[in-house]
Amino acid sequence: MADPSWTARVITLLPEIYPGALGHSLIGRALADGLWQLETLGLRDFATDRHRTVDDTPAGGGAGMVLRPDIAARALDAAESGLPRERWPVIALSPRGRRFDQAMARRLAEGAGVTLLCGRFEGIDERILDARAVEEVSIGDYVLTGGDLAAMVLIEASVRLIGRVLGNPDSLCEESFSHGLLEHPQYTRPTAWEGLAIPEVLLSGHHGRIAAWRREQAERLTKERRPDLWRAYAGAPADEDPEGAAELSDAHTIAATGENKKDDDR
Ligand code: ADE
Repeated sequence: MADPSWTARVITLLPEIYPGALGHSLIGRALADGLWQLETLGLRDFATDRHRTVDDTPAGGGAGMVLRPDIAARALDAAESGLPRERWPVIALSPRGRRFDQAMARRLAEGAGVTLLCGRFEGIDERILDARAVEEVSIGDYVLTGGDLAAMVLIEASVRLIGRVLGNPDSLCEESFSHGLLEHPQYTRPTAWEGLAIPEVLLSGHHGRIAAWRREQAERLTKERRPDLWRAYAGAPADEDPEGAAELSDAHTIAATGENKKDDDR
C-alpha cells in the first residue's frame, strides 16, 4: 500500500471554516488530488454537558476564558496519531509559542502529519500542554482572536513543501538560492509601463550580469529591510551555514520570492 498522505488534523471550535483558503489554488488542488489530507475535530463534540461547554474562568481571576484540560485531553486523545512526536508533532497555536519559521515548516513537511489545537480563548489550561506533550507555536508577535488562521498559515507553509505539491519544484530551488537574503525585485512585460522601464540588465540576456545584479539588489534590500537577516548572512560564510543563516533566511525570503504569484498564475 502507498504511504498515507501527509495529514493536518485540526482540533477547533470552528470546523466549518475549513478548508477555507486551503481549498484553493495549488494547495487546494493537492488536497483534492490526495497529496495531503485535512481532518477537523470539533472541540465542542468532546464536551460532556448539555451546553457543550469547553471553557471556564481563569483560576486566580482575570479576563476571558480558559480552555478546560479535560475537554482538550479528550480531543487530543481522539486525534492521537500513534506516531512519535518527531514524525507527528502536536502543536497548540498561541501567541506565546515558539516562532514559526521556514525551518519548522520544512521539518513538519518531512514528517507524517501534525495535530493542531486551536483555542479561541484567553488561553489553554497549562496542565494539558505538559500532560500531552503539546508544543506551543506562534506565527508572529501579534494577537489573533484564535488559533485557526495561524493553523492555516502553518498548514499552507508546510504542505507546499511536500513532494509533488508545487507543480514546479524549481521554485523551491529558487528559494534556497536566496542564501539568507531577501529576494531581488522581479519584473515582467510590458517592458515600459507608466513611463517606468525594466532595468536594462534584465533584458540583456547576459546571465552572469543578471545574476550579479540580482545578488546586489538582494543584498541591498536585506540590509535596508532586515538588518537581523543581514547580520546572520554577513556573519556566515557562504558555503558553511546551511542550517543557520540559510534556514533563517528561508523564513523571510519566502515572502519576497514572488513564487506564490507564479503558483497562482499557473
Ligand atoms: N493565536 C492568537 N494569536 C496567535 C499567534 N500570533 N500565533 C499563533 N496563534 C495565535
